[in-house]
Amino acid sequence: MDALDPKSDQRPTAMVGDKLSGRVALVTGGIRGIGAAICRSLVSQGASVAAGYSANRDRAEQFLKELESDFGADVHATLHQGNVSKPEDCRRVVGEVLEQHGRLDILVNNAGITIDKMTAKMSVEDWDTVLAVNLSGSFYMAQPALEHMVERGTGRIIFVSSVIGEHGNVGQANYAASKAGMIGLTKALAKEAAFILKRADRMEDDGVGITVNTVTPGFVATEMLEHVPQKVQDRILTQIPMGRFCRPEEVARVVHFLAADASAYITGQVWGVNGGLEM
Ligand code: CAA
Repeated sequence: MDALDPKSDQRPTAMVGDKLSGRVALVTGGIRGIGAAICRSLVSQGASVAAGYSANRDRAEQFLKELESDFGADVHATLHQGNVSKPEDCRRVVGEVLEQHGRLDILVNNAGITIDKMTAKMSVEDWDTVLAVNLSGSFYMAQPALEHMVERGTGRIIFVSSVIGEHGNVGQANYAASKAGMIGLTKALAKEAAFILKRADRMEDDGVGITVNTVTPGFVATEMLEHVPQKVQDRILTQIPMGRFCRPEEVARVVHFLAADASAYITGQVWGVNGGLEM
């Protein structure tokens, strides 16, 4: 099997559980790659999903049709266009979700970009653009979502960071810094959410509460990886103990696990899904 073989995908195409039934999830960058796999996985557990996308309306509508044809007409999914590097778009999208679904239980901050260059060749714009989308965008989305979750006293925020944020990578100074920043942001928000609930005397021993966690995927077989030169892909593969790239579904299953009510005692944590890379 080729390491990037699309046949290796394990997409859920039916409801397989109900642990997220009645929950509403917003997934940024939700129409392709890891984000699409996360939407499918959340739907397969009974959640309604709001999929964010930045530009490609046709592709977004195609994704929605696929969801409906795979999971049936009962699936409640909506599309939301926005640029996560613009705080006003983020606030508007959270507002749209609240208006159309009535609540927001789960925010998955997945939207991310790369502009890979050696540091000597990286322009200020390359740096700023990646930081603006990956790191500032995560904050701009989390802020209005957390406001709503604090009002309700329950919620889940899950960031999709990267193994690169933990260990760095040749040609990715901007991306590594942004993904490392997301880990700090996760821990700060996890502490704040718990602090606020406790101060308001709303922390229940067996409650759902508000948790904030990060998943750090390794090298995942998506379009992002297709842009990496073949010789570099080959080199990376030799460093992965599992001997293959990650499937988007393997990241998504950790996200739906963390999103469940029963995961209430896990907060401020970093969950690696990387085939044993950098143990
Ligand atoms: N790991 C190890 N070696 C790397 C490397 C990497 N990530 N990236 C580049 N190199 C090596 C190359 O193999 C090459 O080595 P040799 O001289 O021995 O052949 C050397 O560095 C210079 O590379 P290039 O010849 O490609 O130089 P360039 O200036 O034309 O391009 C580059 C530099 C833009 C960084 C290009 O090499 C590149 O795109 N590298 C891949 C970067 C990468 O790994 N991106 C991951 C994208 S997926 C992702 O980011 C998702 C995630 O969360 C994991």
